[in-house]
Amino acid sequence: SDERPLAGLSALITAGPTQEPLDPVRYITNHSTGKMGYALAQAAKALGAEVTLVSGPVALPEPAGVNVVHVLSAEDMFEAVQRHFASADIVVMAAAVGDFRPEHADAEKIKKQGRADLTVRLVSNPDILAWMGGHRRTDGSQALCGFAMETQDLIHNAARKLLAKRCDMLVANDLREPGAGFATDTNVVTILTPAGGCGDDDDNGLPNQQVRTERLPQMPKTQLAA
Ligand code: C5P
Repeated sequence: SDERPLAGLSALITAGPTQEPLDPVRYITNHSTGKMGYALAQAAKALGAEVTLVSGPVALPEPAGVNVVHVLSAEDMFEAVQRHFASADIVVMAAAVGDFRPEHADAEKIKKQGRADLTVRLVSNPDILAWMGGHRRTDGSQALCGFAMETQDLIHNAARKLLAKRCDMLVANDLREPGAGFATDTNVVTILTPAGGCGDDDDNGLPNQQVRTERLPQMPKTQLAA
């Protein structure tokens, strides 16, 4: 019916931060609370979709009627996402995935005794959304949406991500904008969509297409999700 336009479709949504362990006690993370991703899961469910929510560690209650998969690290999230990706008709990558992880997670607590300093080498995590862009269905039956949070050159960086990661939509928000960003219940976003198909035909890594942008007014994350 009109009230359930996503009936019969399955949605895969990611939310929250990741935790990248240093040792059994400590980890590297970010300020994501999962509010945007959880609101998206709830909205998709309300519109009739069958929803899988792959969530990093957050303090939010599980949305009713949603299949929630809890993960900690980016590598765990990547694995969980790979299991659900092929059957997902709608994919929204709202998680704030850690770009780097400690090269080694110590099996025992790192001790401070006898150390004046500590150097931790970080290595890159897999870019989950970029993997999705490379493995997405090509018949137009799978919608792929990413997010971007920046502190500078928001639209330029978001346009680059939209095309490089072969998304249908990228939701860009500026961390410094009042009413936007982490932890708030509202957001201020610009939605970017490719004006022509999707991808990088020249293989030169540069956007070679027009990007359409639509700036939305400040609104609650629940309303934005819908
Ligand atoms: O980190 P970046 O700004 O490139 O994030 C943009 C998009 O890529 C977001 O949708 C985020 O969830 C996704 N991402 C990802 N895997 C990463 C880093 C980011 O899927 N390792």
